[in-house]
Amino acid sequence: MRMRRLRSSEAIRKLFSESRVDTSKLIMPLFVQEGIKARSPIPSMPRQYRYPLSELAGISSKIEEAGIGAVLLFGIPSSKDAKGSGAYAKKGIIQRAVEEIKDASSLAVIADLCMCEYTTSGHCGVLKGGDVHNDLTLNAYGKIAVSQADAGADIIAPSGMMDGQVAKIRKALDASGHENTLIMAYAAKMASSFYGPFRTAADSTPKSGDRKSYQMSYSNAREAMREIAMDVEEGADAVMVKPALTNLDLVSKARRFGIPLAAYNVSGEYSAINAAAQRGWIDYKKAVTEVLTSISRAGADMIITYHALEFAGWK
Ligand code: PBG
Repeated sequence: MRMRRLRSSEAIRKLFSESRVDTSKLIMPLFVQEGIKARSPIPSMPRQYRYPLSELAGISSKIEEAGIGAVLLFGIPSSKDAKGSGAYAKKGIIQRAVEEIKDASSLAVIADLCMCEYTTSGHCGVLKGGDVHNDLTLNAYGKIAVSQADAGADIIAPSGMMDGQVAKIRKALDASGHENTLIMAYAAKMASSFYGPFRTAADSTPKSGDRKSYQMSYSNAREAMREIAMDVEEGADAVMVKPALTNLDLVSKARRFGIPLAAYNVSGEYSAINAAAQRGWIDYKKAVTEVLTSISRAGADMIITYHALEFAGWK
């Protein structure tokens, strides 16, 4: 047997290729900021922006025309409070962003459900005695989910890693007539240093401590499978592993649940590749294609990636 026969020409290599990246399965994250007039560049993430509401129609049409499957929205409010009440404000920034994009496009719209951009503490929930209180936070999550679904979000994506968040959100959605709204659960989300650039982008760095009492340890694969199993049990329509690149083994293992699976190619992964490419140390297009193909090969159905729009343009 000569394995090199399989690699003998570009045509043969293409024909025998086992995995590819499908643009329609990519999800483009967008940051939407309240109270700004023009898009503002995010210093920690080259070619990514905070968008004003007024530019969402334009960018979402571009994303749709590129054949990308969905957008994932993050809101940056102009004021925060201890309860993170801006996250469920009727005319809050993410709610208005959802409306804007639903009006302008037929993209699937995913609303990130979290509180870290809305709380003065920068934590993903309500603090009590110095730690995020699980069940008080769940009450807020229920309200956020309903407000996002009211605004027209197709999919709610809870990213706070509270116990019972999927069950709570499913219940709140069903009770408010949103039984057809999907839940994509950030099921196995690690406390990761690769979120650094995002926190600058979304203004969501915790003011004290870290997120290790709710996000899980990247050393734990069995615990990750339990997290996923619980979200499936609670009624998630899709689950997510995050970050993608440091957890490809978990992406692969999570296939056993038979549920639609997303992987999040996070901000630190995006920015690290950009930084290396800017220095001429790697070829940007080739590196991005390799990264996305490997996430797909590991078993992700959907890939959330800041590269989505540019990648779609390369093919
Ligand atoms: C909010 C949230 C974060 C990310 C997605 N949702 C940040 C965090 O958990 O601190 C990170 C995404 C990225 O790094 O691209 N909880």
